[in-house]
Amino acid sequence: MSNRLDRIDSPAWLAKEMVDIVSSGGRRSVIADFTAGKGNLLVAAQTRWPRAQLLINDKSSAAARDLEARFPKAKVVKADFLRTRKLDQWKGKVSLALLNPPFSCRGAKRHGINLKGDFVAGTGVAFLMRTLEFLSPTGQAVAVLPAGCMSSEKDEAVWKWIRQRYIVTIHRKCNRRTFESCVVGTVVVSLKKRAKPRIVKTISRQLEKHRFSLIRGKIQIHNAKWSRSESAIPLVHSTNLQENSLTNLDRRTTNRNGVLEGPAVLLPRVGKPSVNKIAVLPRGLRVVLSDCVIAIPLSSSSRARRLMNQIRENWQILKNTYQGSCAPYTTMSRVGSVLSRIT
Ligand SMILES: C[S@@+](CC[C@H](N)C(=O)[O-])C[C@H]1O[C@@H](n2cnc3c(N)ncnc32)[C@H](O)[C@@H]1O
Repeated sequence: MSNRLDRIDSPAWLAKEMVDIVSSGGRRSVIADFTAGKGNLLVAAQTRWPRAQLLINDKSSAAARDLEARFPKAKVVKADFLRTRKLDQWKGKVSLALLNPPFSCRGAKRHGINLKGDFVAGTGVAFLMRTLEFLSPTGQAVAVLPAGCMSSEKDEAVWKWIRQRYIVTIHRKCNRRTFESCVVGTVVVSLKKRAKPRIVKTISRQLEKHRFSLIRGKIQIHNAKWSRSESAIPLVHSTNLQENSLTNLDRRTTNRNGVLEGPAVLLPRVGKPSVNKIAVLPRGLRVVLSDCVIAIPLSSSSRARRLMNQIRENWQILKNTYQGSCAPYTTMSRVGSVLSRIT
């Protein structure tokens, strides 16, 4: 079976577990899976609610044909779920949506999401957002999503929007070998609409504004153009941040993306967090930042030193923003929030 469309079906035990999560109150009259694959999630749902109307979609013609044969009483649609209007009549009518969307994120694809603002999201979260449009006021969604999307910077603004309007519960972290032919950490989450949104606010921008403007380096170390020429500039990577100073600035590059002149405070974006890895870039020193470094430019060296000390004093708060199962990382948004709190 071609895996271009991420046809990685949920094992039966996981499908049953996802269905068992659904609260027992309320009728489940319309049950949907908009990326249904072989229909494993629907089989589990049908066992629990045999009289429910099934609403089924898949982009693949072969899958849609098989689904029609497997669920003869269901409404089966063949459409690209992120774009189609064929399903519009079902908006607000689905009492339970089950979801194991494609999310391999090859090429770290981002999807535009229309929330009266220019949101973008990774593939899994884009499918989830679209699914939420179909839920009835008391409806529930149960989804298996890549674990990383719960804490990625790419999806942060969208999760904030979702959590304001839905109660989000993480029920289970799945083993990386849960799916055949795909090694990926996933989580099972459920979402239920809040009676009232927690914050009524129109979101019209991707990230909240913070008092500091932060810069994220651009150069990936393996792509850096190293040079000993006069015009080359020292490259600062997270490994150059040691003992609260800049050390071993002996590697120079001709790259000009992400050039920064001090004064600024530098801290690692990726890697094991340590209070010793915060450093001041002195006034007048020009460097190029690797993509593992975040900089906070300031107007004077004394302000840079003061900010570094404030971060050191509140280190535990900033340390908690480093998350992620492989290499821990933080985001500009999280750092910006912490700086607003501690200064
Ligand atoms: C990971 S499988 C999920 C199968 C099923 N929901 C399950 O859990 O067993 C993803 C399915 O999404 C379908 N798909 C991929 N892109 C799609 C899109 N844009 N719209 C609708 N379906 C899509 C694929 O054909 C594939 O069958």
